[in-house]
Amino acid sequence: MKVLSAVAWPYANGPRHIGHVAGFGVPSDVYSRYMRMAGHDVLMVSGTDEHGTPILVAADERGMTPMELADENNRIIVEDLVGLGLSYDLFTRTTTRNHYAVVQELFRAVHANGYMVERTTSGAISPSTGRTLPDRYIEGTCPICGATDARGDQCDTCGNQLDPTELIDPRSRINGETPEFVESQHFFLDLPALAEALSAWLDEREATGTWRTNVIRFSQGLLTDMKPRAMTRDIDWGIPIPIEGWSEQPAKRLYVWFDAVIGYLSASIEWARRLGEPDRWREWWTPGEAEDQVSCYFQGKDNITFHSQIWPAELLGSMGRGDKGGEPSVFGDL
Ligand code: MF3
Ligand code: ZN
Repeated sequence: MKVLSAVAWPYANGPRHIGHVAGFGVPSDVYSRYMRMAGHDVLMVSGTDEHGTPILVAADERGMTPMELADENNRIIVEDLVGLGLSYDLFTRTTTRNHYAVVQELFRAVHANGYMVERTTSGAISPSTGRTLPDRYIEGTCPICGATDARGDQCDTCGNQLDPTELIDPRSRINGETPEFVESQHFFLDLPALAEALSAWLDEREATGTWRTNVIRFSQGLLTDMKPRAMTRDIDWGIPIPIEGWSEQPAKRLYVWFDAVIGYLSASIEWARRLGEPDRWREWWTPGEAEDQVSCYFQGKDNITFHSQIWPAELLGSMGRGDKGGEPSVFGDL
């Protein structure tokens, strides 16, 4: 059996912590070693997740570029994981040329099949840097209870969900300035058009009996509220959007989660290339390439949405499996 052991990618905004080791480090290592001993072909891959706003913010604070900070944290994390003796077949990074190429190919396939829709959004930016200010980086006075430390996504004092535009006296938690709300164009993954395919796929997962009950229920619950979700950001750190008119814009990039989950695939491809057998990854990924294929994902519970909704939706869209049809491209094109 071909067993893909897909281990969550630690975020490179700081060193690895005990939660990583207990949450997915040791469990995935025990599983992979056992499956190898039982005679299966295990491909265990991961790497550091190096894009996104927290890395930019942390790098700014330290007067470094995001790449320098990612280099530093990648080195520390790799040393720790090697020191622990975890048996990855490949532990790579999301800043490799290979990862950029695979992510852009997958985006193009989803886009060509019609599952990336353009929309105008109103979002907060920092007036001094022009960068997007995510909801949780904005704070202000809660319009409901008056607490002065409410965040743009919610107020911890009264527990209400908020929209950042509702905050009274909004300010940036990064540098205290008043955020500016501007309109911007973005690509949204058309989740409603993929909901049926995703539901059928989740039913198949449920039938295998291998998912934990809470995970399968949570994932099916997400299907009841499928809205298009932004897969691009106004940010200058990340993978360029591979579409004419977009790739030229230095401050528009793919959303970090769009690219991070593709790491499992790009790392498998990198592993095969390094081995000198560039097509070997297909045995784990291309449906029907091997008689028996299983993939097992190890992750923290706050990652479920991305692994059981966003990642399968990206793959289904790229393969033309949603309501809009499309070409069954990606795997053949990689
Ligand atoms: N970096 C994320 C976290 O620390 C996990 C990413 S898993 C990935 O929560 F597969 F998406 F990369
Ligand atoms: Zn409140």
